[in-house]
Amino acid sequence: MCGIFGYVGSENASPILARGLKNLEYRGYDSVGIATVSTRLEIRKGVGKIDDAKERLRLEEARGNVGIGHTRWATHGTVTAENSHPHTDCRDEIAIIHNGIIENYYEIKKRLLERGHRFSSETDSEVIAHLIEDNLSNRGGAASSNGSSFEHACVRAFQELRGSFAVLAVRQGEDKIVAVRKDSPLVVGLAENGTFFASDVAPFLEWTKDVVYLENHDLVVADRAGVRFFDQDFAEVKRPVSTVEWDLEEARKGNFDHFMLKEITEQAETIQRACVQDMAVVERIASMIRSGFGVFFIACGSSYHACLTGSYLFSKVANLHVNVVLASEFENYEHFLTDRTLVFAVSQSGETADVLEAVRAAKRRGSRVVSITNVMGSSLSREGDELLLMNSGPEICVLSTKTYTSQVVMMALLVCSLKGDPEECVQRVKGLYMDIYNLTSRSMRERLKDLARDLAGKDHIYMIGRGLQYTTALEAALKVKEVSYIHTEAFAGGELKHGPLALIEEGTPVFVFVSRDNEDRIVSNAQEVKARGGFVIGVSDWNSPVFDRWIKVPDCGDLNPVIQAIPMQVLAYELAIQKNLDPDKPRNLAKSVTVL
Ligand code: F6R
Repeated sequence: MCGIFGYVGSENASPILARGLKNLEYRGYDSVGIATVSTRLEIRKGVGKIDDAKERLRLEEARGNVGIGHTRWATHGTVTAENSHPHTDCRDEIAIIHNGIIENYYEIKKRLLERGHRFSSETDSEVIAHLIEDNLSNRGGAASSNGSSFEHACVRAFQELRGSFAVLAVRQGEDKIVAVRKDSPLVVGLAENGTFFASDVAPFLEWTKDVVYLENHDLVVADRAGVRFFDQDFAEVKRPVSTVEWDLEEARKGNFDHFMLKEITEQAETIQRACVQDMAVVERIASMIRSGFGVFFIACGSSYHACLTGSYLFSKVANLHVNVVLASEFENYEHFLTDRTLVFAVSQSGETADVLEAVRAAKRRGSRVVSITNVMGSSLSREGDELLLMNSGPEICVLSTKTYTSQVVMMALLVCSLKGDPEECVQRVKGLYMDIYNLTSRSMRERLKDLARDLAGKDHIYMIGRGLQYTTALEAALKVKEVSYIHTEAFAGGELKHGPLALIEEGTPVFVFVSRDNEDRIVSNAQEVKARGGFVIGVSDWNSPVFDRWIKVPDCGDLNPVIQAIPMQVLAYELAIQKNLDPDKPRNLAKSVTVL
């Protein structure tokens, strides 16, 4: 959830850290801090977003060619300057930054307190700095031909940690960064001007596209001379260098005010790229589905909604039942897994802890796993038996928009492959190009801005649909609530009279998602709402007398979940703008949820 960035090389580290942290802010943003090493260790940290902190803390004035930086999303300990990273040892000579959770921090802290260490934060992370210090003073970290005493002290400290962690450590007088990764993302960038560390590749794309994706438990030591990789026993290992295919421009806002709007607008293209798959792999996966005994889709948030949409497509189009389970609830279903079960794990980031935990449980039981992710090199991209990439390019806004529609398209592609005709999906997706272009056009945005003005003062918004339109309503409600902070909830149209109808008062806004194949039933649900004074907003290809407002979208049959989601993304964006909120960084949320 936090963002980690590190640099060692020929340049002054602090301006590079400030730029890198800015690019990482979407991972967490309640506090920020850096440590640089010159003749002494310099720490600058505090509460707030990077732009404010940069000025206030004069981040770019810190000196040294070695530096580590962190943007925090609080888990252990409240949002205070003391709890922000980097954390230091008792003498302020060692500094660490950490992403993840140290499960055994309490017992380590207790032992270190008894040994006289003084702690200054409430975090689990701080124990790492003291543990390294303790190892050094114990001489447990004596130098050897294989590394300095600092490196050995770090290795011994890392070996003691339980939980998930990506850690960067520096020490006064040492021109190096020592790093480790276990169950938390960390990648290494190799550039002419030095070595970079980050939670993902996007923040260092402007310096390099050459990257090393670390294995779990890998240790890394980087100094001005270069970088070396070690396994958890500190034996040197080789790691392959990959080239990132993402473009730097894709990770920039360009002419857009916000990443959210940029990413919404990109969808005419990104859904086409979602179809560009190795068809031999798609066919292999289709035959795994056919021969499997039990198919599970596991995911969280918007990715879960895409899987739910997929389950309707599998049922309707391919006549196949698949199970869709929230990754965080998957432990309740694990006992059904066998070596004949097929598990699809779907995650934009590929680092969502709940998803990875479910994947590991599936692998333990011998089930095969298909990973669907947007991030090459992410944990998920490496832990499955088969891999499909979304090809959406970097998604920087905390909200999923373009990756959601890509996921839906990939579900449709799998379903068409099961019917033996993946090309049908590819052609139909091509046919959506102009529709999406129109739905994200300036004139459409003006209309949705108008609607947003009317809705911005509301406390509650409801959304209904049936079948594929129900899953669309779920996703639309998530988008609106997370970015506008308006309570927004979706219901299956048929469920209204089983309870939710009690919520409808004079003027309550209710969005109704309509498709040609179930229009009669959903329109009669809309009438039930209208009869109780509700304000009905139709999302459909035709206008009905029951609608008070109408969002015109073409009817695209099984691809309606793509086409109907897009104006709702735009509406959510406009609501945030109306309410003067930052759509890229909704409060309390982080892009990559790497803790359970
Ligand atoms: C909603 C949103 C989240 C993510 C969820 C899963 O806009 O972005 O609900 O969909 O946190 O993330 P991934 O797909 O990275 O596993």
